[in-house]
Order: sequence, then C-alpha cells, then structure tokens
Amino acid sequence: MTQTVYSRVIGTGGYLPEKILTNIDLEKIVDTSDEWIRERTGIERRHIAQDGQTTCDLGVEASKKALEMAQIDAKSIDLIIVATTTPDKIFPSTACLLQQRLGIKGCPAFDVQAVCSGFVYALSVADQFIKTGMSKRALVVGAETLSRITNWEDRNTCVLFGDGAGAVILEASNKAGILSTHIHADGEYEELLHVPSGPSKLPKTDEIAERTMSMKGNEVFKVAVNTLSKIASETLEANQIQKEDLDWLVPHQANLRIINATARKLKLTPDQTVVTVNKHANTSSASIPLAFDEAVRDGRIQRGQLVLMEAFGGGFTWGSALMKF
Ligand code: COA
Repeated sequence: MTQTVYSRVIGTGGYLPEKILTNIDLEKIVDTSDEWIRERTGIERRHIAQDGQTTCDLGVEASKKALEMAQIDAKSIDLIIVATTTPDKIFPSTACLLQQRLGIKGCPAFDVQAVCSGFVYALSVADQFIKTGMSKRALVVGAETLSRITNWEDRNTCVLFGDGAGAVILEASNKAGILSTHIHADGEYEELLHVPSGPSKLPKTDEIAERTMSMKGNEVFKVAVNTLSKIASETLEANQIQKEDLDWLVPHQANLRIINATARKLKLTPDQTVVTVNKHANTSSASIPLAFDEAVRDGRIQRGQLVLMEAFGGGFTWGSALMKF
C-alpha cells in the first residue's frame, strides 16, 4: 500500500529591513494623518529596504533563518521557488540569484508572480512537486521591495505598503502537512490594481505614476472581502471540516478591516488570527510567511494545529492553503 506524501513545514524564517517608516513620518511626505491610516487600515509602521538592498538580499536572510530552524544543509534543498513582484533583475529570476547566494547548485529555481497571492501560489506549486515525488525538500520564499514601485507622492497607495521577506522549508513526509491548496485568478480586474508599465509595455510618459502601483482602493476592498470568504468556504468544504476545527488564520496582511471581516466569517477570535499588518503594512507575497514565522517562533502556532492561510492580490489572484503544522 502506498502512503500519502505530504509537504510538511520543517523551518520558517522572516526578515525585515532595519529602516522603519512610521505614519508620522508619512505625514511629512503626503497629505495624510496617522489617525486616518490607523482607522482605515490598521497600519502603524512599515519597514523600508535601504538604498541598494534588494529583494534577493531580504530573501537570503529569511532563507538562512528557515534553514537554521530546520537544521539542514542548504545543499539538501532540491527546489527553490520565490514569489515576488519586485525581482532584483528582469532576469535571472530572483530564485536563481537566491540559489547562488545560498551556495546551492543544480536544483530547479524559478519565480512565481501572483502579486499578494504569490506565496500561496508558490506553496501550491511546491506542494505539487513534493506530492508527485519530483522534490523532497523545497525552499519557498515570498520577498518584496514594494517601496521601489511605490509612488511616494500618492497618498492613496504609499501609506499601504512595506518591504520584507519570509521563507518556509517543506519536506516530503508521511506525517500530515499541507492538506490542500486552492489557487484562482480573474484577469478581468487588471486595472483596479496594477503598475501601468513594464519591461515590454513601456511607460507612455515620464510620469512616476506610469512606473508605480495604482489602485482603486475601495473597489479592491469589496472584491477582496467577498472573494476571501468564498475561498475559505471552498477550502473547508474540500477538506470536509468545519470552521470550528480551525486553530489559526494566517491571512495576507493588506488591511486590518479585511482581516477582521474574514476572521469574523470564520468565527475565529482575534486570538486565533495572526496580525502583523500594524507593524509591517502590506508586504505582498512576503506577508503570509512573515506572519507565519512570527507566530511559529513565539510559540502561538503549535505542532499538530490546523492553519488556514489565505490571500488576495493584483490580477486579481487569490488562494488558500490548509495545513496541519
Ligand atoms: N490619507 C488621508 N486621506 C486619504 C488617504 C490617506 N492616505 N488616502 C485616501 N484618502 C482619502 C481619499 O482621497 C478620499 O477622500 P474624498 O472622500 O475626499 O475623495 C477618502 O480618503 C476616502 O477614500 P476611500 O478610498 O473611499 O477610503 P477607504 O475607506 O476605501 O480606504 C483604503 C482606502 C485604500 C485603505 C481601502 O480601500 C483599502 O484598504 N482597500 C483595499 C486595498 C488593498 O488591500 N489592496 C491590496 C490588495 S492585496
């Protein structure tokens, strides 16, 4: 009889750049207030990469911490996936740069681009590799320097984002780990949340708005709340479990109001919801692994507990992962 193979987390890591930008600091840059930002988003501060510090630099630090927790040699990693929207270079991929920096050779390494859902997408891909026997130990990283694609003159967006990286190491195991992943997209919503130009679609003008994030915040908000509620139901149904069975929600950290709305629908208390958006703001694909790492390291998330991760992002993309930690 063949045994089910699961992807089990054996290490987590997170890294935030040293520089902190508070809401009070932002009051000096754009027409905003600490009160407005806290009330509408729950954000108090965010970390910003130093000049010259790249997405890969952040990813390296997070990965090293995950390797340390797992107590494994980096060379035993046989798959590297980096979720990022802010790669160091157009190519090579940030995953290849990370592979080089960690001294790993030969294993597949590639990036996944699903904006704020990137980590859940990457986790889903890694899980397929492990379940099919293609990989035994995967390093999955979410890393971003969103400050580089932020328009610091636009108060609608610049107060919302931050930089950081999180990592997990998955290992093939007969013990339960990831139980299911669910990923979706709907490209119809392209212009509600996007960067207008890119390497192939060149900026129409020199304006900064052409090269930075643009968002119709309140429209994104409504779709996000509805979609996250649906993905949570889809995940519970697929696993034939009830809301009450969940121990933890580790949501993408975009806005505290979105997080609370999702948690309420799942009947989870604030104590069962990992929140870092107040300290980190929205770090896109890094937000879930950063929050997860924090709650694993401070002992809140315990072995054997049931953890639901969910995310929503530009595209639109959305997804979830249910795991027994
Ligand atoms: N400081 C002060 N006022 C601001 C502001 C800021 N930083 N940003 C916007 N405003 C103003 C707007 O100009 C608007 O003013 P007006 O009524 O005079 O036109 C007013 O605040 C309300 O704007 P609105 O966009 O309706 O506010 P909101 O309650 O929807 O909150 C967001 C705005 C962006 C915080 C909220 O919509 C949101 O979080 N959306 C989801 C964003 C998200 O999660 N994106 C990433 C998905 S992964």
